Amino acid sequence: MIISIYQPSHLASLIPTMQSCIECVSKNLDGQEDITFSDLALGFATDVIGQAAFGTDFGLSKISASSNDDDIDKIATDTSAEAKASSEFIRMHVHATTSLKMDLSGSLSIIIGQLLPFLQEPFRQVLKRIPWTADHEIDHVNLALGGQMDKIVAERAAAMERDQAAPHAQQRKDFLSVVLAARESNKSWRELLTPDYISALTYEHLLAGSATTAFTLSTVLYLVSKHPEVEEKLLREIDGFGPHDHAPTAEDLQTKFPYLDQACMPFFDIGRREGIDEILLFIAIDSKGNGTWVWLAPGVLAKDPKNFPEPEVFRPERFDPNGEEEKRRHPYAFIPFGIGPRACIGQKFSIQEIKLSVIHLYRNYVFRHSPSMESPLEFQYSIVCNFKYGVKLRVIKRHTA
Ligand code: HEM
Repeated sequence: MIISIYQPSHLASLIPTMQSCIECVSKNLDGQEDITFSDLALGFATDVIGQAAFGTDFGLSKISASSNDDDIDKIATDTSAEAKASSEFIRMHVHATTSLKMDLSGSLSIIIGQLLPFLQEPFRQVLKRIPWTADHEIDHVNLALGGQMDKIVAERAAAMERDQAAPHAQQRKDFLSVVLAARESNKSWRELLTPDYISALTYEHLLAGSATTAFTLSTVLYLVSKHPEVEEKLLREIDGFGPHDHAPTAEDLQTKFPYLDQACMPFFDIGRREGIDEILLFIAIDSKGNGTWVWLAPGVLAKDPKNFPEPEVFRPERFDPNGEEEKRRHPYAFIPFGIGPRACIGQKFSIQEIKLSVIHLYRNYVFRHSPSMESPLEFQYSIVCNFKYGVKLRVIKRHTA
């Protein structure tokens, strides 16, 4: 039921939503010099998920594009209640995606759980009551974000009830509406899809679908702005597509941008391209449901020179489907979206969103690394990889027809 929601026809219908969010970010770039692009990308990707999956507008794409580290604090002093709520939401969101670390840099309960798994939960229960511990902070943020999710679910359920009362109302197709409708369809679904379970699914969807996409989009811009030869090829393809006010359709995205396809791919494992040795970890719980933790390390696989000659070199052409390297590569050597029954359900969604965004941004701007960005780029490793200080870019307006 959930997998079918991101079928091609539904994805195509999401193009206007995605396009309007990226246009909102782009308008924000006019007149800016240096920006922390990764912050903007997170707001953007969260807005897309909010609108596409929950029918909710978080309004985060409107956040100012300054590269100042105190940007979010600055927004918090804004008098508008909406801006304050947005900045707090982003702050919690960043915390939620960066604090869940499954190694020895995690919270105390997680570290204990690595050594003595049965003690993890009792320790977490105690530590979450002690202020200033990481477990306390994680619990606090989870409760606050969980509360917001409950509100979103309740609002959507109320909207669906209103729809039912209205004659000829169209059935809503967003993720949350589909889950809520399934809940009402029969008794066993109602027993499975309890309100708590639906809130948890919503929360998972929000975190799974925004930080990952924002990270990937930011790395696309980071790497392209460092490689003029890639930028030139990309601009040629994008400009060659047609007038700049003509937004690509889903079919155009799939067929008319072969180089963009290749240029977006390698960025899932930026660590490799930056010569950084840590590994990117995504986790899965085994499908038999016996609680075994299975750790996938796509970043390690992607460093294997057998499958990726000169793995440290950023070369989009290595993903050219007609090229020898791509043909020779083992089918499971590149698995940024996971594999098997727990693989990502948002793969096509995020690729469409990233490609649409890159096209729109490069129709209007090119980017260079800001002098205020550290080099090499530093990362924060948790359940989702993140930037330690952000991708800081200098915006250069393009003057094309
Ligand atoms: C570049 C972007 C993305 C990357 C790299 C990515 C990667 C992944 C990976 C590796 C998994 C599997 C985790 C595991 O093995 O347990 C996963 C799961 C998931 N992803 Fe994504 N993802 C991305 C975007 C998205 C988007 C846009 C959505 C929603 C629209 C999404 C929704 C989900 C959900 C709901 C799961 C859990 C599936 C399940 O447990 O059955 N992801 N993602």
